[in-house]
Amino acid sequence: MSVPQPRLLEQIAGIIGPQHLLTAGAELEPFLTDHRELYHGRAFAVAQPGTADQVAQLLALCNAHRIGVVPQGGNTGYCGGATPDDSGAQLLISLARLNRIRAIDALNYSLIAEAGCVLADVQRAAAEAQRFFPLSLGSEGSCQIGGNLATNAGGVHVLRYGMMRDLVLGLEVALADGRLLSSLTRLRKDNTGYDIKSLFLGAEGTLGIITAASLKLFPSIRAAATAFAAVRDPRAAVELLSRVREASGDRVSSFELIPRLAVELTARHIPGVRDPLDGVHAWYVLCELTSARAADTLDAMLAECFEQALEDGLLEDAVLARSERERSALWRLRETIPEAQRRDGASLKHDISVPVGAIPEFIERAGRWVHDNVPDGRLIAYGHAGDGNLHFNINQAPGADRAAFLTRSETVKRAIHDLVREFDGSISAEHGIGQLKVLELERYAPPVELELMRAVKRALDPNGILNPGKVLRPLQPEAQERSS
Ligand code: FAD
Ligand code: MLT
Ligand code: ZN
Repeated sequence: MSVPQPRLLEQIAGIIGPQHLLTAGAELEPFLTDHRELYHGRAFAVAQPGTADQVAQLLALCNAHRIGVVPQGGNTGYCGGATPDDSGAQLLISLARLNRIRAIDALNYSLIAEAGCVLADVQRAAAEAQRFFPLSLGSEGSCQIGGNLATNAGGVHVLRYGMMRDLVLGLEVALADGRLLSSLTRLRKDNTGYDIKSLFLGAEGTLGIITAASLKLFPSIRAAATAFAAVRDPRAAVELLSRVREASGDRVSSFELIPRLAVELTARHIPGVRDPLDGVHAWYVLCELTSARAADTLDAMLAECFEQALEDGLLEDAVLARSERERSALWRLRETIPEAQRRDGASLKHDISVPVGAIPEFIERAGRWVHDNVPDGRLIAYGHAGDGNLHFNINQAPGADRAAFLTRSETVKRAIHDLVREFDGSISAEHGIGQLKVLELERYAPPVELELMRAVKRALDPNGILNPGKVLRPLQPEAQERSS
């Protein structure tokens, strides 16, 4: 792919309107670095289409000229998936202007949102229709539905409602050759052949650009009980989760594991956050029960369960939120852990999952390895324990040399990911592959699965224009690859 000619810019401007085509250096800059500042790329322009048809036309044009395109939503992704390479030959397509809620069907419990809708706006639109859209992430004020679909985002309600993939009824997708796949069905049952939409979910923009989605809604939440509890250890946390699920008739919507250091870092770095409990404890959980029935006495249910857990030595202390303000304060502590970690210094992040029951042993073994091998790091293993998903992060210890600490990243990653494999786990539970984990995917994915992924990529994007180098390395021409 070579740097495009001015004529191409004219054609792009002709599709989207010149005012929506950015080419000046300063205008492009905000789009060229990822949220974690791991990658900085270049693009010859940023296109801001306003309709699905315009996205499709852009792809037809880029396909004809073999121009690589990089879709970008809210740019909150963790794996550099929305950052172009450094060739300056790629076109970045921002979906931000596709931000309409096209329809809400309250009786069908569904809505149709364009890809550029900010997640929090979709949650609000659902709430205005007395419905609930459950996807919830710390980045919900800026990430977009298209990005959520393309990364198959997880977040804090997966235990109850599933990941983004589970919330989708239908999709509208611009394909590499410029066709528009219009499959915005509102049906919950539809067994007519292959589930084509699922290919685009979690594909991180490598198979098509999602322009709109038909999403599932749920009854509004009318009762909630939220508790912050100190647990004896991760084993006690997992046992507690199982008990609360049973006792509440499976009304647990969030169950987040939080280590002591995360409480200390949020209290130190985030204004307004304080430790909700008096004593010092090694591990905590943030547990939330919710129900669509206002009459459900969830507080009493949770309190009863916790009293028994205290008696049995699983719990050391706990506090139940008594108001919406107290509930938000507990959630603020949890949601700001990544930001507190960032403010505290460099960190090595691993977004892993193992079967829920294996969490304690994983933390024990991986924690021991970190203790023995990373003297300048401090472990902060936290996250969505109810889904078996840990953000197994290691932060630079106070006074440690940042550069020296960061040189450990490859060794640490290898040790952690090898252990994940031993546990039949995943090296990317919810953040995706992007450009960060392309080689990790190659290393750990079953070979047949990788072959199928490449075959799908080749079928849907034979010229390799869609987000090149993300998820999979750019494919060689077929004949060459077979003989190599
Ligand atoms: P971007 O970062 O813009 O893009 C992500 C990928 O999707 C890229 O590969 C991009 O090319 C592709 N893409 C974007 N839009 C489209 C489209 N319309 N069609 C096709 N491809 C597209 N993630 C979780 O899963 N769970 C969490 O709990 C969580 N918490 C977070 C907390 C914070 C504070 C932050 C900063 C991030 C968090 N994330 C979390 C990560 C991130 O927010 C999610 O991955 C989110 O889904 C990305 O959405 P986005 O719109 O920002 O996508
Ligand atoms: C979270 O759950 O807080 C995020 O997925 C992890 C992170 O932001 O590092
Ligand atoms: Zn997470």
